[in-house]
Amino acid sequence: MNDIRNFNEYQKAYQLSLANPKKFWDEVALNFYWRKKWDETLQWDFIKPDVKWFLGGKLNITENCLDRHLDVLGDEPAIIWEPNHPDEPKRILSYNELYLQVCRFANVLKNQGVYKGDRVCIYMPMVPEVVIAMLACARIGAVHSVVFGGFSSTALRERIEDAQSNVVITSDGYYRGTKQIPMKQTVDEALKQVNIEQKVIVFRHTGQPVNMISGRDVWWHEAMQMASNECEAEEMDAEDMLFILYTSGSTGKPKGVVHTTGGYMVYTGYTFKQVFQYRSGEVFWCTADVGWITGHSYVVYGPLLNGATVLIFEGVPTWPDPSRLWQVIDKYKVNIFYTAPTAIRALMAEGDDWLKPYSLQSLRVIGSVGEPINQEAWEWFYHQVGKGKCPLVDTWWQTETGGIMISPIAGITPLKPTYASLPLPGIQPVILDADGKEITENEKEGLLCIKFPWPSMIRTTFGDHERCRKNYFAAFPGYYFTGDGARRDKDGFYRIIGRVDDVINVSGHRIGTAEVENAINEHENVVESAVVGYPHPIKGQGIMAFVICNHPPDDEAKTKKEIGEVVTQIIGPIARPDKIYIVEGLPKTRSGKIMRRILRKIAEGDISNFGDTSTLLEPEVVKKIIQAIKN
Ligand code: WT7
Repeated sequence: MNDIRNFNEYQKAYQLSLANPKKFWDEVALNFYWRKKWDETLQWDFIKPDVKWFLGGKLNITENCLDRHLDVLGDEPAIIWEPNHPDEPKRILSYNELYLQVCRFANVLKNQGVYKGDRVCIYMPMVPEVVIAMLACARIGAVHSVVFGGFSSTALRERIEDAQSNVVITSDGYYRGTKQIPMKQTVDEALKQVNIEQKVIVFRHTGQPVNMISGRDVWWHEAMQMASNECEAEEMDAEDMLFILYTSGSTGKPKGVVHTTGGYMVYTGYTFKQVFQYRSGEVFWCTADVGWITGHSYVVYGPLLNGATVLIFEGVPTWPDPSRLWQVIDKYKVNIFYTAPTAIRALMAEGDDWLKPYSLQSLRVIGSVGEPINQEAWEWFYHQVGKGKCPLVDTWWQTETGGIMISPIAGITPLKPTYASLPLPGIQPVILDADGKEITENEKEGLLCIKFPWPSMIRTTFGDHERCRKNYFAAFPGYYFTGDGARRDKDGFYRIIGRVDDVINVSGHRIGTAEVENAINEHENVVESAVVGYPHPIKGQGIMAFVICNHPPDDEAKTKKEIGEVVTQIIGPIARPDKIYIVEGLPKTRSGKIMRRILRKIAEGDISNFGDTSTLLEPEVVKKIIQAIKN
């Protein structure tokens, strides 16, 4: 599909995508199967915002992920599943089997009263059934809203309510190393307070006891037995909603990022093939959970659109020991391995001995995603894992962009450690200064924006278009604002610095400081809190919380522990602060705004210069905080 096979072809594709974007994307889109071709390639307006791709085109993405491959690839593996426990049996689903299961489960959904346009919440572990559930939704035109299995019942409830989902697909529980974690029970708790009539479909995985509510809950395997495995795909408009995925921003409430069918398909299918230079027959392994965008685009849609074999792993990198990932790579002869810097740093810290028994010779391309990768981790990944022979693609993108935006193309464009490097064809990044002027000189840090639409970009935030406008299109009229800081070097290579808004990136997970603060404030003895990120050797960023209490706690350690538990309960363990300081006051401006800039500096350990503090109401407060940390 308009493949890029050398640097010259990259440059030609990029030039064409600038000079004639419609022609460029028309050619790419023609590689997919459309029931009806589009009438118009693109309509856009970044002020409203209103972006539409492939207008009038009709398709179903599952026909592109499944049906289209069956003739040639029917017996080839679509999914290889490696369980948490290395001694448990693996599972392999061929394209034929995956197709039949998706059709069958699509009928299960229909039998439960799900129609085109309905939102279905998927709260599941990393098992093949999560992919089946997502594709079954797409098959019948239902909109999936996958919620990461590590989120708490409160976070799950918020997402069910916001999307107005009336079906939840879940599992009895899942495994993480030595732990067995309930899921159905969490769904039960979440639904207690939801006023929308629900159906719950439960996949039996761990076999732990669950409480089935008659009339509401059905077992996956029982419902499947009764369903036919023939299901004609629903004809969708290119701009019909494919899924909603919640992500954190500066405000307290997560946003439901909306992606639509045609553009998302074209972009994820194209970028998967190009960035990893995927070759047919190869085994692709992306370690991301399907609860995040990386899982949607590069565990499910991108690979399946290309007829790839994708590996799904339920467990964790460090169990039973820190060689697990290398074991799995050798076991299945993985060719492309895509993971996050936090995993790389964690395994690097365990020492090189864990790698030594493994050949890793099958690897051809390695990739990184989710947060900036530091030089040391880059070098280790490249030399120890990739043996210096695998291109390392540092892929920059976001939930909102749907697919990889800035990244090397494996083996084709040059690598530069810590640089996401060059934009993919069709992507027009710019760096703006605080006044919204494009910075044209090199090596100057600014705000990363995109000035032209691409097919898989966010269309709206579910149920609240104004929020989408304000968040991404209002700061700099005419541009999509990413929320990231970046700079460009003399070769045009981009280096992503990190978030410039109130979002913390903890182990590649995006967490809004306001969400954590709201959770902390639920503790009975908390009056106010402020949360900032700080550099963390493994997680990239850790969460630091400054908390003002109502009355000085009798037992500080106990209060801090309780605060951590409240956050776990309201959001999930990923948002639990790493450090909590109980302080007497927070640095505020005269108008009462918390000066987070100062707290960030303190958290980074840089107390030499706080910049302009003329608006700071009580300078004493800052001294006291520094003292509290020293103690
Ligand atoms: C934020 C988006 C899309 C993948 C998973 C995260 C940061 C992502 C990189 C990278 C530096 C990166 C950015 C971005 N980020 N990839 N290669 N280098 N930073 O998706 O949860 O929507 O988070 O992750 O800060 O804005 P997300």
